Amino acid sequence: MPIQPTASIWHNGNLIPWEKATLHVMSHVVHYGSSVFEGIRCYGQPQGAAIFRLPEHMQRLLDSAKIYRMPLPYSLDQLCSATVDVVENNNVAPCYVRPIALRGYGEMGVNPKGCPIDVYIANFPWGKYVAGDHGADVCVSSWNRLAPNTMPSLAKASGNYLNSQLIHMEALANGYQEGIALDVNGYLSEGSGENLFIVRNGVLFTSPLANSVLSGITRDSVLTLARHFGIPVVEQPMPREMLYIADEVFFTGTAVEVTPIRSVDRIEVGDGKTGPITQQLSEEFFGVANGLRPDRFGWLTPVKVNAEQQVPV
Ligand SMILES: Cc1ncc(COP(=O)(O)O)c(C=O)c1O
Repeated sequence: MPIQPTASIWHNGNLIPWEKATLHVMSHVVHYGSSVFEGIRCYGQPQGAAIFRLPEHMQRLLDSAKIYRMPLPYSLDQLCSATVDVVENNNVAPCYVRPIALRGYGEMGVNPKGCPIDVYIANFPWGKYVAGDHGADVCVSSWNRLAPNTMPSLAKASGNYLNSQLIHMEALANGYQEGIALDVNGYLSEGSGENLFIVRNGVLFTSPLANSVLSGITRDSVLTLARHFGIPVVEQPMPREMLYIADEVFFTGTAVEVTPIRSVDRIEVGDGKTGPITQQLSEEFFGVANGLRPDRFGWLTPVKVNAEQQVPV
């Protein structure tokens, strides 16, 4: 889907025109993948719009940067208020927000220390990521997720997404909508850009952080909602075949939100229909995000966007 430009992008403290947010081809990030980023959704609400779990996303950006020894010259509060500024200035909601911190133009060579750190925050309208309404048909990838002692999965770093691209492109080439990767020991990890949940006998399972998963904000939201509803939750390593005998399987992520999975490796999940626990969690998730159910956990940051100019995605 082509990007729909907005008016401005936040760059190192200032709003600059969208078309001026460019990089030199010799920037460190272009050659060595040296950037960390976030993906955040801003939802339309009955009275305006709200950004979903903004501080948690920005804290993860700071954490990713810390893992890569990339000191960001902005505090959590500054990054959050910069995001509100750019969304309000561009007056587009619902939208997707993409903060990115990168190593810019300075020196060549793997050592990034001589390169400046640039921080940008962009937003733009963006729709559904994986076909969701009737569930996605997915496969287990022949590519493993990052091994823990190779690239840190807890950092949302652009380099990690080379692995994601291989998983996703292989799935598409074979006629699936998404791939699920195993970790280096053969346990279930996650999708190319989503966390994975399984329901069996009324219990909600997901892979723990040690199975090379990103610590998803949506994953945390769904775990929180499940606990709130009294659904038993277990974070434990899971073998691949748990997918085949599951009653329900779904993905979570900012892009995919809560997306039911209809089949894995052409084996139907349960009876092939969205199951009751997926439905319950999904309805609550969308209800809170869209301002139709109470925001009990304080997940929403309101933004002033002129409702008449909302862009449908
Ligand atoms: C590899 C990977 N796993 C999981 C997720 C889900 O994370 P979140 O719910 O914070 O978007 C994402 C998306 O950011 C991702 O890229």
